[in-house]
Amino acid sequence: MLTIGFIGSGNMAQAMIQGWSGNPEVQLTVYSPNSGKRVAKELGITAEDSAMAVWLKSDLVVLATPADQLAATAKMLQPAILMKPSVIVASVLGGISLAQLHQALGEQLIITRALPNVNVGVKYGYTALAFDKDTNPDIKGAVAALFLEFGRTDELAEEKFGAASAVAGSGPAFVAAFTEALKQAALKNGLTEEIAARLAEQTVAGTARHMIEAKKTPLTLANEVMTPGGSTAAGYDVLQKGNLNQLVLDTITATMAKNAEFE
Ligand SMILES: NC(=O)c1ccc[n+]([C@@H]2O[C@H](COP(=O)([O-])OP(=O)(O)OC[C@H]3O[C@@H](n4cnc5c(N)ncnc54)[C@H](OP(=O)(O)O)[C@@H]3O)[C@@H](O)[C@H]2O)c1
Repeated sequence: MLTIGFIGSGNMAQAMIQGWSGNPEVQLTVYSPNSGKRVAKELGITAEDSAMAVWLKSDLVVLATPADQLAATAKMLQPAILMKPSVIVASVLGGISLAQLHQALGEQLIITRALPNVNVGVKYGYTALAFDKDTNPDIKGAVAALFLEFGRTDELAEEKFGAASAVAGSGPAFVAAFTEALKQAALKNGLTEEIAARLAEQTVAGTARHMIEAKKTPLTLANEVMTPGGSTAAGYDVLQKGNLNQLVLDTITATMAKNAEFE
């Protein structure tokens, strides 16, 4: 049995707890000063009264507080870290590097920086992982296997995290915006709210699943749907004339620039 402890029980912690719940080999526990007990009850896991208690019970601790709480968390954890330095840390703190994590928590610890997206909660997430240079391959494999339970993962150099964060971390909001645009177009053309929503959601979900399961690139799939000179091609032309690629590139660039301000 592996015990995973969470410090912080906000949106990301809850998504990860949902992603891991149901694994009979994993026991989950959480500490969060205000919402910890309520979230634990709602999600059917145990709550602890302190960050120290979570650390001492866990094999892996997920840091899931706002990034500016790292120093406060490190202070709360210091006695527990000294008592049990074997705990592996997985930090999801946005914009906090492995070097900063070591500086706050201790140079001796094994630390993984993880960048999961919100879709881990429905087991269809994406998580970028960065490890310390000297991390044992068995530990890397074990940590990656945990994140693979709720989606796909890649080991990435930390300098790529900004791009990964904009595309995969913020991406669900952008894909949701496109889904809403499809829904609005269906509504404008006389479909009911309920059916417009179903058409848009199922089309986006099914298209992603089709590309992944049939290993098709987006362009391959697009070309399969389009007969040259046909109706889909007429619509696709409008997207291209509106410069969809540039619009999305500008979206990602603005997201990365804002993230950089926070770092
Ligand atoms: N949301 C995402 O899609 C996403 C994606 C990737 C990474 N992240 C990163 O994940 C982290 C958490 O994000 P979030 O969206 O889950 O934030 P959130 O919903 O605001 O939740 C933050 C949680 O941290 C708890 N907390 C605050 N100070 C604490 C402290 N000193 N000790 C223990 N717990 C403390 C809060 O406690 P109470 O509720 O008890 O007050 C709350 O449960 C951030 O660093 C963010 O950059 C988020």
